[in-house]
Amino acid sequence: MTGFPLQRPRRRRRTAALRRLAREHALAPDDLIAPLFVVHGSGVAREVPSMPGVFQLSVDAMLDREVDRLRALGIGAVILFGIPARKDEIGSENFAPDGIVQRALRRLRERHPDLLLVTDVCCCEYTSHGHCGVVKDGAVDNDATLELLGRVAKSHAAAGADVVAPSGMMDGMVRAIRTALDGAGYRDCAILSYAVKYASAFYGPFREAAESAPAFGDRRQYQMDPANLREALLEAALDEAEGADFLMVKPALAYLDVVRAVRERTALPLVAYNVSGEYAMVKAAARQGWLDERRVVLEALIGMRRAGADAIITYHAADAAAWLAEGGVG
Ligand code: PBG
Repeated sequence: MTGFPLQRPRRRRRTAALRRLAREHALAPDDLIAPLFVVHGSGVAREVPSMPGVFQLSVDAMLDREVDRLRALGIGAVILFGIPARKDEIGSENFAPDGIVQRALRRLRERHPDLLLVTDVCCCEYTSHGHCGVVKDGAVDNDATLELLGRVAKSHAAAGADVVAPSGMMDGMVRAIRTALDGAGYRDCAILSYAVKYASAFYGPFREAAESAPAFGDRRQYQMDPANLREALLEAALDEAEGADFLMVKPALAYLDVVRAVRERTALPLVAYNVSGEYAMVKAAARQGWLDERRVVLEALIGMRRAGADAIITYHAADAAAWLAEGGVG
């Protein structure tokens, strides 16, 4: 390398065609997974106040319309979150055959045989106390929760889920779910583990969307400390050993170093979750005219791909797919 003036990196940036040729990373609708919140009732499309453009949808034409729109934009995967009719101590609707997620799965499976259906497997939306498992003596009991998670996963698989995504950060959850699925003959149902999930304030708007805020305390006894990186590698390795098919790091933007570190240590596909608070910040600033939403969103998403994420769960999925169709990330 002789440096300047022989080397002029700007030569490669002069035109859009040159920049495309030199571009190292790509973003496509195929890389995106769109979250959907399903609720009981009919004709419901209730916008989440802190997440403009995100709706709680009833499992009828409301859900159909949204999914048709996503598919037309080239989105091939969705992740479902359910808001139950009733909450109780153990979150019984979570594994009920006619639970809201199970109903949504059956409808989507029938209407879209080739759409990838992922489900969030957790207790917090379903329990009266809002914690991610069975509460005993004021704390979440890890091992008692594992049995419940197995039942939920089987019930989702039975209703048509391709992938179950446990998000409760229980130790041994991947193994318990794999054992339960295999025991019931659902060997092909894959597990996307929220392997590396931090106790994050960026989940605030989601808890409004999913009506899942904890009634007491917080989630720091099971979700990870934001100050930790080595622990992320340990969590990822454990879930891989337990049989996870895909790993996830969550949130994304404040944790891109974690995405990169996990990427370098596993051969499994890696998913980043661009969470609700990340979405809400962009939406709020864009509404004020303080940010160019399109450019900021595509920049953040390509940053996640650059960090090493194969796929991204994002509330911007539909918008991003539409912008990509218009002109790509550049
Ligand atoms: C359920 C769950 C949460 C999210 C995904 N699954 C909330 C939480 O852990 O409190 C957050 C998603 C988001 O903020 O977009 N455990």
